[in-house]
Amino acid sequence: MRHLMNPLDFTVEELDKLFDLADDIKANPAKYAHACEGKKLATCFYEPSTRTRLSFEAAMLNLGGQVLGFSDATSSSASKGESVSDTIRVISGYADICAMRHPKEGAPMVAAERSGIPVINAGDGGHQHPTQTLTDLLTIRALKGRLGSFTIGLCGDLKFGRTVHSLINALIRYPNIHFIFISPPELKVPDYITDLLCEKGITYEEVIRLEDSIAQLDLLYMTRVQRERFFNEEDYVRLKDFYILNKEKMSLAKDDMLVLHPLPRVNEISVEVDDDPRAVYFKQAQYGVYVRMALILTLLATVDESGNGIQ
Ligand code: CP
Repeated sequence: MRHLMNPLDFTVEELDKLFDLADDIKANPAKYAHACEGKKLATCFYEPSTRTRLSFEAAMLNLGGQVLGFSDATSSSASKGESVSDTIRVISGYADICAMRHPKEGAPMVAAERSGIPVINAGDGGHQHPTQTLTDLLTIRALKGRLGSFTIGLCGDLKFGRTVHSLINALIRYPNIHFIFISPPELKVPDYITDLLCEKGITYEEVIRLEDSIAQLDLLYMTRVQRERFFNEEDYVRLKDFYILNKEKMSLAKDDMLVLHPLPRVNEISVEVDDDPRAVYFKQAQYGVYVRMALILTLLATVDESGNGIQ
């Protein structure tokens, strides 16, 4: 039985298979409409979410399965002090697979150690967001036709943004990728990531102004400043509107540059950009359903005959 904690849990070859499956699901949804009949997905969300939770639920419903769960720690027994280890042991008897989001880094990993069912990390603190990364990779592969041989700009909150950390980790396994990190000095990408890039001989630049680098980019990955991870409101207010992608900045970009964003967006992309064909963030959210369908099928296939149960 396998879990998904980190995008690197899958090899590049396994990811290719997963993305092929997601493409087939997109092209032939009826073929998969009963694939998970009799199976249940538990969504245990200790932190707010729109896309991740609902796309997981849509994914399981599209596969003919059912869903149960909670969307808020205060409506679960976590509010009474229950540990994630105890919660997952109980849920292992109620469901066949679990997607868990938690504000504490590593909490889904702790759950996976005591789980009788596959656990998917649906975002843990500022650490990792592997299913967002799968969504991002599938979107890039589908719309660019390749994973590799491009310059990608990551812009905004590169310090706290778990989607950025996960995506960089995943992309470094593909050839000829040049990273341009665009952030204010206070929200720079963590040193452990730049150290890793140096160690692997992967080229990167760190810049402050989006206007100075947008013309070089094949992909621009915009991110929100993560209010919930700041220690004081004053710093958040000072930095929250540091970047606003608008039509004027888009006019400096290549005709085939794609703009991605994990969403939710706050102010960092002006709504006037939404109608630009290069803005693909709403399509990206849709790809998230196909890749989560493929992931549920793949992980459920790793559960052996003895199946789930209390460990
Ligand atoms: N992209 C993403 O994780 O969105 P939610 O926080 O709405 O799930």
